[in-house]
Amino acid sequence: MCGIVGYIGREQAAPVLLEGLSRLEYRGYDSAGVAVFDAEAGTLAVHKAKGRLQVLSEQLHGGADLNSTMGVGHTRWATHGAPSDINSHPQVSHSGRIAVVHNGIIENYAELKAFLMAQGVPFTSETDTEVVAQLIEYFYEGDLLAAVGRVLRRIQGAYALGILCADCPDRIVAVRKDSPLILGYGEGCSLIASDVTAILGHTRRVGYMEDGELAVLTRESIQCYNHLMQPIEKKIVTVDWELDAAEKGGYEHFMFKEIMEQPDALRRCLSPRIREGDIMFEDLSLSQEFLQNMRRIYIVACGSSCHVGMVGKYHLERLTRIPVEVALGSEFRYMDPIVDRHTLVIVISQSGETLDTMAALREARRLGGRILSIVNVVGSSIARESNQVLYTWAGPEIAVATTKAYTTQLALLSLLALWMARRLGAVSGEEFQAALAAFQELPGKMEEVLSRRDSIQYLASRYFNHDSIFFIGRNLDYALGLEGSLKLKEISYIHSEAYAAGELKHGTISLIEDGTLVVALSTYGKLFSKAMSNVIEVKARGADVLSLTVESRGEEMRHTADGVMSIPDIHELLLPCLGVVPLQLFAYYVALMRGCDIDKPRNLAKSVTVE
Ligand code: F6R
Repeated sequence: MCGIVGYIGREQAAPVLLEGLSRLEYRGYDSAGVAVFDAEAGTLAVHKAKGRLQVLSEQLHGGADLNSTMGVGHTRWATHGAPSDINSHPQVSHSGRIAVVHNGIIENYAELKAFLMAQGVPFTSETDTEVVAQLIEYFYEGDLLAAVGRVLRRIQGAYALGILCADCPDRIVAVRKDSPLILGYGEGCSLIASDVTAILGHTRRVGYMEDGELAVLTRESIQCYNHLMQPIEKKIVTVDWELDAAEKGGYEHFMFKEIMEQPDALRRCLSPRIREGDIMFEDLSLSQEFLQNMRRIYIVACGSSCHVGMVGKYHLERLTRIPVEVALGSEFRYMDPIVDRHTLVIVISQSGETLDTMAALREARRLGGRILSIVNVVGSSIARESNQVLYTWAGPEIAVATTKAYTTQLALLSLLALWMARRLGAVSGEEFQAALAAFQELPGKMEEVLSRRDSIQYLASRYFNHDSIFFIGRNLDYALGLEGSLKLKEISYIHSEAYAAGELKHGTISLIEDGTLVVALSTYGKLFSKAMSNVIEVKARGADVLSLTVESRGEEMRHTADGVMSIPDIHELLLPCLGVVPLQLFAYYVALMRGCDIDKPRNLAKSVTVE
């Protein structure tokens, strides 16, 4: 959601900015823009366009038209003001001296705008960001940093800012509060970006800005300041993500590439943690005393990450007998949660930047809970604010619809459940070893499922024309259905709902009529016969049933369902992790056949950094 790139160096800046923005496209946006310092004219040149980045890039001939070695760029996901050229960023002060790119929301912008307008400052856009540019100009008396400092004392909300001033051809100022911004330390250049993929082509040496920090970037160095404007040293870390991991590498879509990468992502996630017949969480320090006195577990997340939490609840409660509550990040703060020092709060987030999840984390910490996060993006805000972090090591996930991050989150949470159960003496050595062996078999079994993708493509070709689909399942299969349904609807735009199969009779079954597609999930062996009854029930009302089950039950299901997808039999802890793959593929092929924009579905953003 909104992407920022800034560059100051010796190369032409505009092509660097456009390339960086193209790597941030996946975050979701509806317009794009760049501002560069034009050394000949001594002014800022600003170019913006509504729509795809391609439009801007064509207008600027790939950036070759702009002769400048410093600038900032932005992809905007509209909040204040419709998507339009005028509302796009960079936003510029009325004299044209200050240009600002912004990710986040300035909550008190209306009051500040009224104040500035009363002073005669003319406004051109509807954005909250223009207020920041105008306010900097208002306070500017020749010292950019001082003016920015005065503005920061007045604005409220969440922001990452990149700021240019026509009087300062040797610097970019960056600020961060509650929205991600990283610093890139290149050879003869300095960069800012919303995430690391945007600058990997220039440097792997990055620094993570903390809330309230400012940075002044010059060609030679980056100086950081804390909120009191005192100079601080920033730790530089070297990122090990490869640039090609964030490229399509011959695949038509990132989503498909990421589906296919899942076995390797799982190996990266699990292998270092399963050794010598045990689970080694070297990155975890939950004492035996804490575990034994733990009274409750909350799992907090949004969207697909929350679906991981639903599966986790079943596993954790079954294995440890400790009560687990799953809460949406957006609801947690408002439900008066019962958290104390005996509560473990597991926060799940691919990006590590989801604002609602972050706010829930802070609330849980304030209440005294112990925060353990499961995160993909190293150094992200959620990772940094947690007591403990388990990284999924899935590599960069670019497609908006999550796949490999989901399966690695799920595998890791399931492994954590098993680890806790073992530490609490709730599973026998034999049960523990059997489960561990299943984790080791998981990537291979997933490869098998992926190798049979043609059969799923065929099923997609039979059903892609439906305009309403129901997913039903019980227990683990219900949680799996929630994710299967979300995957399908978000990329194919088909209306789809997931129901606990037993709940269907309490209302929704009235929607089932001749030809309605019901995807019936029955991988969980203990409830297979119940699942079968529900299949018969909906068939009796005319539904077309596509079933997902395990191979050992495939034959039985084939007698009743109209189509059957199957996965190899596996330990119940890993059923949803394996079972989601045919559902991801089904969603992918359906969306492909409907001609949808698979990697960037309408209205969606990869990293949701507003409430
Ligand atoms: C759906 C999807 C979203 C995310 C949600 C949380 O495919 O990707 O539902 O799961 O926006 O994002 P993270 O995990 O980054 O906190």
